[in-house]
Amino acid sequence: MPNAKVIAIANQKGGVGKTTTAVNLGACLAGRGHPTLIIDLDPQGNASTGVGCPVKGRNATSYDLLAGRHDLAEATMPTSVDNLSLVPSTPDLSSGDIDFANRPERIKLLKSVLSHSNGHDYILVDCPPALGLLTVNALVAADAVLVPLQAEFYALEGLSQLLMTVREVRQAANPDLRLDGVVLTMYDGRNNLSQQVEADARATLGELVYDTVIPRNVRISEAPSHGLPVISYDPSSTGSRAYTALTDEFLARQKDMRQ
Ligand SMILES: Nc1ncnc2c1ncn2[C@@H]1O[C@H](COP(=O)(O)OP(=O)(O)O)[C@@H](O)[C@H]1O
Ligand SMILES: [Mg+2]
Repeated sequence: MPNAKVIAIANQKGGVGKTTTAVNLGACLAGRGHPTLIIDLDPQGNASTGVGCPVKGRNATSYDLLAGRHDLAEATMPTSVDNLSLVPSTPDLSSGDIDFANRPERIKLLKSVLSHSNGHDYILVDCPPALGLLTVNALVAADAVLVPLQAEFYALEGLSQLLMTVREVRQAANPDLRLDGVVLTMYDGRNNLSQQVEADARATLGELVYDTVIPRNVRISEAPSHGLPVISYDPSSTGSRAYTALTDEFLARQKDMRQ
């Protein structure tokens, strides 16, 4: 069986839509018949909550996985969505940067546990808002990185730092790491700033930027409190339609890569 495609969803800025994109892209891929796994690599555990896994239900976690205390099968649990699985996280992951710092293979902890995968088509790694050891582990393990970019001022400045980290990871450990693309999130078409950021992003990054933009939509922000992705919570919402379109485009890019 071919190995799962591993996609790191990364941006060192917080609140830009990483977790929302992991949960909703994951749910849409699962809905298309692709068994998908979300690995919650953020100590805040928002992706875990967002797919209906309460804190009390998090027995084996991504920390246990990286620490080698549980293997991938043991740490994987079902979610509120058919075909979508989760490796949850808990706040103890916040000490991961320190706890794992002295391990010689510290940047390859995730890669080595994913080498035994596992019947999934896609593994989406929801990264924390920092370029520390956890995000580096995701980038080292990944086939590609997907970058949510909030349509606001300064968005592009942070991006150059992330792209530098991607280059370093390519040199150090993962020469085949691909940039899948950049997706504009929380877009407000009535706002000049959103339009300006989109124009700048497209001028600077060209085809890397997804055609689909994710609008600011209240249903997207309500869905996690019900432990559901927006396609389950309100299938006809603009947010649901946007993540469906993003999934189409994501799958088309995957197909292009195979040709
Ligand atoms: N398109 C959107 N429309 C409305 N709210 C959104 C949208 N995308 C994300 N949010 C909200 O913004 C906040 C930050 O998003 P999140 O995905 O958690 O970002 P990150 O994982 O990058 O920190 C969350 O409260 C989320 O519900
Ligand atoms: Mg997050």
